[in-house]
Amino acid sequence: MIAALIPAAGEGARLGRGPKALLEVAGKTLLERAVAAFLGQVDEVVVAVSASMIPTATRLLAGRARLIEGGATRQQSVMNLLMATNAERILIHDAARPFLSREVISRVIAAVEAYGAASVVMPVADTLIESESGRALDRSLLRAVQTPQGFRRTLILEAHRQALAAGVTATDDAGLVRWLGQPVALVTGSPWLMKITATDDLVMAHALAEAWDGA
Ligand code: C5P
Repeated sequence: MIAALIPAAGEGARLGRGPKALLEVAGKTLLERAVAAFLGQVDEVVVAVSASMIPTATRLLAGRARLIEGGATRQQSVMNLLMATNAERILIHDAARPFLSREVISRVIAAVEAYGAASVVMPVADTLIESESGRALDRSLLRAVQTPQGFRRTLILEAHRQALAAGVTATDDAGLVRWLGQPVALVTGSPWLMKITATDDLVMAHALAEAWDGA
């Protein structure tokens, strides 16, 4: 059994327009888009939202996903999601990335079967420098990490439990698995997996949605 877990409990502080997952991109909320991407691809979808989002999220999802209450941080929201499913294979995807294809989901699932933990990543096109020194980093060695990330249940649960006990935090779940000393397979992501963080990202997402929804 495979579960898709979607942390969507963020308050969207950087955008300042209410919970980010409830923002609309071309007529559909980020939450609806993230859930729709997994329908027919996994056995269950579980979404973490904040308490204040539950009525709206319940109406929007209309039974397509199970809703639970998230935590104060993304990591806590994911822990709550992990406790809410018994699935042997887990995919974790940020609601903030609305354009997730079936191909990417299939690649992650295949890599989880083969290696136990997998993340989508992209090569970095821009030149990268350290802001203080101006020193250039070798971008050929670097990757931008996206979601979804996939794991065997036992591995991701152990990583989250140990991280919680040790007070270790990471901005993604694969980071906790690596912290545990376990390898994470890297599979190719997509430029479509842009993350909506700032107002301009939302403007770009609106423009992209036309091509995405029409495809
Ligand atoms: O804030 P950021 O964009 O990094 O959040 C990534 C994802 O984690 C978002 O989908 C957001 O809703 C979710 N999140 C959460 N619980 C929190 C904070 C963020 O589920 N307390």
